Order: sequence, then structure tokens, then C-alpha cells
Amino acid sequence: MRDVIIACDFSGAEQVLAFLDKFKDCERKPFVKIGMELYYAAGPEIVREIKRRGHKIFLDLKMHDIPNTVKKTARVLSELDVDMTNVHAAGTIEMMRAALEGLTRPDGTRALLIAVTQLTSTSEQRMRDELLINASMEETIAQYAANTKEAGLDGVVCSPLEAALVKKRCGQGFLTVTPGIRFAGAAADDQVRITTPARAKEIGSDFIVVGRPITAAEDPVAAYNQCVTDFL
Ligand code: C5P
Repeated sequence: MRDVIIACDFSGAEQVLAFLDKFKDCERKPFVKIGMELYYAAGPEIVREIKRRGHKIFLDLKMHDIPNTVKKTARVLSELDVDMTNVHAAGTIEMMRAALEGLTRPDGTRALLIAVTQLTSTSEQRMRDELLINASMEETIAQYAANTKEAGLDGVVCSPLEAALVKKRCGQGFLTVTPGIRFAGAAADDQVRITTPARAKEIGSDFIVVGRPITAAEDPVAAYNQCVTDFL
């Protein structure tokens, strides 16, 4: 189950396909994350094309709306045959249950469904001042993760530094998908709570999501292979 997911944050089909061409001769087909930027630019066809090339796909659209709308949207996504998709836990347990129902195909199969707890860009101060959440970041994440489990989802997206906390509250089988990965000594870019692939493995991440350390590397295939070696 554990894997390295490459965040393919490109602005169009041409760019992402040129990037994936570099991996053509690799024995291991990378698991690919398609986010809002690429999906809104290139639509469902880019999902089908990357799937046709044999990659697993995490469609990172972070759904957050009324339960009925999320359920119907998830039903549409269930036909895209992605391997993982997500919602915001802030949408409530009812919304997460609706997403799960929509995503489940008539034969009972479905993509993994995970929830975003608090975005890693949100600070405790903004949570308190703007969102009026007075609990600590850790308590909030643990509660959102527990809500996600209660709704029947498979796991959460969180900082690798929070993976242990989530596992403690929700059990070892509850998946943690963790962005915020950097090689030792590399630039953090705009990420704040970061760690290395090897440390993420020790803490208990199930999937690491790695963007710029691979996409902006001089040799993306070597950087990906390094992640695989360190994490798997
Ligand atoms: O380039 P980098 O490795 O920072 O990319 C991380 C990816 O994970 C980006 O696609 C970003 O949107 C996503 N992500 C994140 N933090 C979250 C949720 C998603 O960095 N809490």
C-alpha cells in the first residue's frame, strides 16, 4: 500500500505529459497527484490519458460543499477510475459520508477517500483569529481525523509531523498521506512543517506527496528513485 506520490503541479496537459515521458523506461510507474490547477486546465481527459499510461492517480480536488452536491460530484468522479481522491474534513461527518456514498460504484468498488484536516498553510493564530477555532492545531487535527474515521473514510492528508498523532488517535490502519517532504539540506520553498522521506517513513506516513523536490530537480527520475529508496 505504501507509495511515493509525485505532485504534478503543472498548468497544462502538454507540460505534464512531457514530464511523465521522462519516466517511460522506469520499471516503476510513479503514482501521480493531479491537483486543481491541472484538472481545471485540462479536465477529465488528462486523468484518462495519465491512467492509460499506467499510472495510479490521486485526484486532489479537496471537495467541500453541501452533502448533496458533494455526493453527486463524487459519483461523477467514480467514473474516472482514479485510485485516491479527497474532501475537506471541515465539511462535516455528514458531508464526508455523502462523498463516500457517491464515490462507491454499484459493484461496491471505489477509490480511496481521504480528508484534509487543516491545511499546512494555516497557522494556529489564523485558526483562532479568523476561523474562531480556539483549540490547538494538534487537538483540531486529531478531532478532524477522528471525524474522518467516524464517517468511514480511509485516512487523512496531514503534515508528516502529525502522522504519529493521527495514528495514535485513529489506529495504525488509518492512512496518512503527507506532503511537506524535502531532501535533507534542500530549500523548504513555501512549506513550513517539513521532513525527509526517511523520517516520514519512521513517523508512519503511508504515502508521501512530493512535488518540487522531484518536478524541479535537474534529474527528476533520479530524485524520484531516491524518494523510493528512502521511503519504501
Ligand atoms: O512542491 P511540494 O512538494 O511542496 O508540493 C506539495 C504538494 O502537496 C502540492 O501539490 C500541495 O498543493 C500539496 N499539499 C500540501 N499541503 C497540504 C495539502 C496539499 O503541500 N496540506
